[in-house]
Amino acid sequence: MAQIIDGKAISLAIKDELKEKAAKLKAEGTEVTLAVIQVGNNPASTVYVRNKKKGCEYIGIGSLSYELPEETTEEELLSLIRELNGRKDVNGILVQLPLPAHIDENKVIRTINPKKDVDGFHPESVGALCIGQPGFVSCTPAGVIELLKRSGISIEGKECVILGRSNIVGKPMALLMLRENATVTVAHSRTANLKEVAKRADILIAAIGKPKMITREYVKEGAVVIDVGINRDADNKLCGDVDFDDVAEICSAITPVPGGVGPMTIAMLLNNCIQSVELQK
Ligand code: GUN
Repeated sequence: MAQIIDGKAISLAIKDELKEKAAKLKAEGTEVTLAVIQVGNNPASTVYVRNKKKGCEYIGIGSLSYELPEETTEEELLSLIRELNGRKDVNGILVQLPLPAHIDENKVIRTINPKKDVDGFHPESVGALCIGQPGFVSCTPAGVIELLKRSGISIEGKECVILGRSNIVGKPMALLMLRENATVTVAHSRTANLKEVAKRADILIAAIGKPKMITREYVKEGAVVIDVGINRDADNKLCGDVDFDDVAEICSAITPVPGGVGPMTIAMLLNNCIQSVELQK
């Protein structure tokens, strides 16, 4: 039976380390504050935003909350971001996605000061990651790297196959695995012979958004399987992109859903908030 990677426990250990760092910064006179903006009331977003604020509270940093109505205009949102960009008492700015259809997401992301871009979505942050310069890294892929390292799984020289090419997960995940000296393949919905490609992986990372699609037919025996998916199955139960029960019997390590990658995302966001102090010096 595979090693079950406990993202909840690992994220808690990280948050406890961040709590110490936040206390040290406070003792030196630096208070860290994250501004969180939500537009409209998408129920999933409301849960995510609440958890992000709870995370801030846990590690002892401040959070400012902006809950704007669905009808907020793009210009109103951009003007709030510009105001927060200029505030010395705000270190991080996070605009929860998705945004209502009348607001241009790219324009919003580009308006955030890259030095406060704790989500790591700004083109400048993505570019910095691409050429190995300091900057914020997207939280979910950063969390996957941390999970692997803290579980004692070595990355260097390994065949890593990433399923999915989104801007938030797949693409930055590929850049991070490359930085860790893995040999990286990014596969996606148009990949020919997907099963064969996935089966090459020593480390298989699924970020496709299809409930339980990845069965053992996609997995090499002894591989490490990281499930980034958060879906609902036919019984409305939370599940990943990986058919956990099927794959766990043949792989060497696997993340569960929930309790795997999910809790790491917030830990990495909080890490970015603490890191923002360095980047803003
Ligand atoms: N919506 C889903 N995931 C995320 C995330 O990591 N950050 C933001 N801002 N919105 C999201």
